[in-house]
Amino acid sequence: MILIVDDDRAVRASLNLLLKKAGYETAEAADPDEALAVIREKPPALCLLDMNFSRATTGEEGLRLLKNIKQMHPGLPIILITAWGSISLAVAGMKLGASDFITKPWNNDFLLGAVRTILELTKENRILRPITYDRARLDQIYHFENIVGTDEKLLQVLGTAGSVSATDAAVLILGESGTGKELVAEAIHANSRRRRGPFVKVNLGGIPPDLFESEMFGHKKGAFTGAVGDRLGRFEMAHGGTIFLDEIGDLDLAGQVKLLRVLQDRSFEALGTSTTRYVDFRLISATNRNLEEIIRQGGFREDLYYRINLISLQLPSLRERRQDIPLLAQHFMNNMKLLYGRPALKASSAALNWLISQPWAGNVRELKNLVERTILLTPHDDLEISDFQAHCRTLSQPSISVDLTSPADSTLENMEKAMIMKAMRLHHGNLSKVAASLGLSRGALYRRLEKHGISHENPQ
Ligand SMILES: Nc1ncnc2c1ncn2[C@@H]1O[C@H](COP(=O)(O)OP(=O)(O)O)[C@@H](O)[C@H]1O
Ligand SMILES: [Mg+2]
Repeated sequence: MILIVDDDRAVRASLNLLLKKAGYETAEAADPDEALAVIREKPPALCLLDMNFSRATTGEEGLRLLKNIKQMHPGLPIILITAWGSISLAVAGMKLGASDFITKPWNNDFLLGAVRTILELTKENRILRPITYDRARLDQIYHFENIVGTDEKLLQVLGTAGSVSATDAAVLILGESGTGKELVAEAIHANSRRRRGPFVKVNLGGIPPDLFESEMFGHKKGAFTGAVGDRLGRFEMAHGGTIFLDEIGDLDLAGQVKLLRVLQDRSFEALGTSTTRYVDFRLISATNRNLEEIIRQGGFREDLYYRINLISLQLPSLRERRQDIPLLAQHFMNNMKLLYGRPALKASSAALNWLISQPWAGNVRELKNLVERTILLTPHDDLEISDFQAHCRTLSQPSISVDLTSPADSTLENMEKAMIMKAMRLHHGNLSKVAASLGLSRGALYRRLEKHGISHENPQ
């Protein structure tokens, strides 16, 4: 049963109708006393609570009721309904333990979605909490094939990620750069009922402020100088799927306001149009920054924080889970074995121990890059400490070095291409020498030259 608390009869009636049509049982209360009486008699599964009782427009009464309900039933989920102008009230309510908030006027589909999400989350927590630590069990239930590790903190994250993947809850993924935030975001999508829909990734740190709206919401041809054609925004691309807002801590305050609006009710207007569009997406965000600290400094909106942070996941750094390092190294080596047809590739146990002892400021990404770089540049298959040391960026300069300072370019593909081109220059296009220096057969080198479109016709 869902309890609707609002002193406005018309609001109660319309919420009642909406929820009943969607198959929920409902009860109504017009003021705090009535609400508490209903709850005392039979605790509802969820409470929809209007914060703005007309008698006390400051919201004090709503907050007091929220506190009382939470005292009686700490586990009873409450969704707040607030006026758009009084969003600070919603923030205060979230701090007192409300599960979510919705602003008036609401969008019916969005409200139903929020109700369903909160009910599902409450259910999931009860069912799944005891088994979140067991890797084998997790792998029976969910698809986490790409995510290697057995560390307890990681499994905790995966357990929560798995259980919330079935819902539409907004998830915020925290963790240092290279800890696997994007990987987890993809896994949540892959385990959700949106898995056949799009997964749209946006790096909010990489969008210049003046292009934010056109990038996110799209534009009509001619909306501004330079808008030569229509452009579909990222939110619209994500319709029916998941949008992943990476580096959300890097978004400026103006962008945050624009983002908040579309997150409130899933609607927006493309630049140069006046029609409001409604999109259906699930939100996942990530940042390597400390959002609470940025909020204190005034650089991040608190209401936006609560909006994106229904569930938060904190990924451990690689330093905090060193026992996973050999597993990860093996995993990356196995991928390279297949990719490069070198089945005998193997790291000595001394080498694995050396890997375990490294600082790994760049976390799993740094480990992956080191393993891949070492394999690409080492002609023999038995890898020793010295082989890894030779290709460690902080140590001696490798014989064929590639500039990997720009993270966007450090994909395996780009690294491979850059290394082959460098070797081609070094050996003046002599393919035998190039192949030998890269530890590849001539055939394997040919295939890669074709793949990357590197010209190899030039005379030696
Ligand atoms: N647990 C893991 N198992 C396997 N690969 C991982 C794991 N964590 C991270 N990676 C790999 O490390 C790299 C960085 O991960 P990514 O998700 O982009 O990190 P972040 O978004 O936190 O910076 C990616 O290539 C990813 O595939
Ligand atoms: Mg990332």
